[in-house]
Amino acid sequence: MIQLNNVSVQFGSVIALHPTSLAFHQGQFTVLLGASGAGKSTLLRCLNLMCKPHVGSIDVEGLGRLEGRKILQTHRRQTGMIFQQHQLIDRHSALQNVLMGRFGYHSALRSMFPLSRQEQTIGLQSLERVGLLHKAQSRIDQLSGGQQQRVGIARALAQKPLLILADEPVASLDPATADKVLAQLHHICKEDGIAAVVSLHQVDLAKRYADRIVGLAHGRVVFDAEPDKLTHIQEAELYEQKNSNNERAAPFKSLNAQLVSA
Ligand SMILES: Nc1ncnc2c1ncn2[C@@H]1O[C@H](COP(=O)(O)OP(=O)(O)O)[C@@H](O)[C@H]1O
Ligand SMILES: [Mg+2]
Repeated sequence: MIQLNNVSVQFGSVIALHPTSLAFHQGQFTVLLGASGAGKSTLLRCLNLMCKPHVGSIDVEGLGRLEGRKILQTHRRQTGMIFQQHQLIDRHSALQNVLMGRFGYHSALRSMFPLSRQEQTIGLQSLERVGLLHKAQSRIDQLSGGQQQRVGIARALAQKPLLILADEPVASLDPATADKVLAQLHHICKEDGIAAVVSLHQVDLAKRYADRIVGLAHGRVVFDAEPDKLTHIQEAELYEQKNSNNERAAPFKSLNAQLVSA
């Protein structure tokens, strides 16, 4: 669905992403794992060019090389983005927020007027899919954290996306709510055949929902396989990472060792 060809990103002297070639496929639920600073957000943001690679290129199925305003606009329209801090407008209703997902389909001028009945229906259907139709008129600041994140998912769905990019979408939720919200996102992506790339820091959630885990360390892909290939040792290292405050500790030590010895 989308292919990175030797994509690399640099911030000053920091290489956030070393040259990386990866493809993400339709209907595949990919989880990015890695310690803080590993390059997960950078990789995700490359996928809709919110972060511009310094080197390399990106190809999108049906659109070709991701370059030029028109292709980028089309790609962004069909790419839903879900953030950790949901990035909704607090004083607006759930429905108003979800309808912002439709803006990519209209000119800036058209977006200043109330959206058509057809558009409103898409918004309501999106809310229904995340079980929040009854909250359509509620203000965002009157919803729980889990509900807010589900509105974030509905906004992405209103775009009728082919690709969903989710950056730590459940990091600010309690474990039970995180599981429920991720289950819902997973279910919808599977139902619609959406390619999902989701960064998480909970290995247990990654193992439960991912078709594929891409492990990142210091801006490099150090693991790329099905979740059951992630061994207990590697998993323990990830937990060690999570529980440690030392963000500089090298994650995936055994993975790196394996790669080096391979
Ligand atoms: N806008 C930026 N300016 C400077 N450095 C950045 C910027 N964004 C990310 N970085 C650096 O790039 C590296 C990867 O960051 P990031 O992709 O945010 O990692 P992750 O999402 O895995 O925590 C880190 O060293 C981070 O400090
Ligand atoms: Mg990040």
